[in-house]
Amino acid sequence: MKTMIEESVIRKQLDNTLESIELGVGKKYEGKVRDNFLLNGKRIIVTSDRISAFDRVLTTIPFKGQVLNQISAFWFEKTKRIVPNHVIEVPDPNVMVVNECKPYPVEMVVRGYITGVTTTSLWYNYSRGSRTFCGIKIPDGLMKDQKLEHPIITPTTKAEHGGHDMLISRGEIISGGLVEKHEYGEIEEKALKLFEFGQKEAAKNGLILVDTKYEFGNADGKILVIDEMHTPDSSRFWMQASYEELFGRGQEQRPLDKEYVRRYLADKGFLGEGDIPEIPNDVKIEAAKRYIIAYEKITGKQFAADNSDIPGRIRNNLGKYL
Ligand SMILES: Nc1ncnc2c1ncn2[C@@H]1O[C@H](COP(=O)(O)OP(=O)(O)O)[C@@H](O)[C@H]1O
Ligand SMILES: [Mg+2]
Repeated sequence: MKTMIEESVIRKQLDNTLESIELGVGKKYEGKVRDNFLLNGKRIIVTSDRISAFDRVLTTIPFKGQVLNQISAFWFEKTKRIVPNHVIEVPDPNVMVVNECKPYPVEMVVRGYITGVTTTSLWYNYSRGSRTFCGIKIPDGLMKDQKLEHPIITPTTKAEHGGHDMLISRGEIISGGLVEKHEYGEIEEKALKLFEFGQKEAAKNGLILVDTKYEFGNADGKILVIDEMHTPDSSRFWMQASYEELFGRGQEQRPLDKEYVRRYLADKGFLGEGDIPEIPNDVKIEAAKRYIIAYEKITGKQFAADNSDIPGRIRNNLGKYL
């Protein structure tokens, strides 16, 4: 896989990444990846170049913010007739202005395949003998990376700043009063519709949308899909062409890779505790390339990179709000 973007453009951007931004308006909430500014029922979401793994912010990656914001914008536009979303406008490559919603306190994880190595993943639990996951019965005899008979929703709680998301079942969400039953049913239906659409579109570009996470919110009684959609941070993609063969041989799938930096650190022995090792420029550049390739594969468009001063450009494009 290759991108048309010159490596020199990425290298030049190393000292010019968007770490964070002050807009001087609204109430600021700094998430792991995005700087949010709340003003008058609207939320300005600036996607920074920060990369997080192991629930820690590690460093910045050139153009990552633009990649994520533009992938989300692509999907929100494509799916708005199927499920209404929070987007008002996308005034800058790194920025989305959205309707402020009351988020439902659950993350809707949808899975089309049985995979994963972290403790909250389906394969991790299944391979250790568990046959019930988030209240859903999983049949015997499945192999790692096998396609599920139909996609399943395996929700998690939405952790506060610094916390870890926890697996939860539909029954617990409703009996615990986290979401009203009829609203939860609507959210489930919307999540499955989005996932089905995402899988179909991804297949057109030679990709498998393996699993993803949606967030929903409520604005004036209307349920909207919020946050981000089908990005490499919220989703797992595999290459379609090699799926069957690799699965048949019991080998690892070829991911559309977001895990490059994480794996570099894991190989250095870093698993989230203690000081973060120095991340060399070449690792950052390789990670940037992979994000850009993800953009180009997912959207089918060429990525438009430029080395302009990002905060200056953002303030300029957000003029009417500032
Ligand atoms: N339309 C919206 N209304 C309210 N909250 C939103 C909306 N869209 C996204 N959010 C929230 O904004 C935050 C986005 O920043 P992010 O860096 O993802 O933060 P976090 O570290 O909490 O995941 C998330 O907490 C997400 O739930
Ligand atoms: Mg988030």
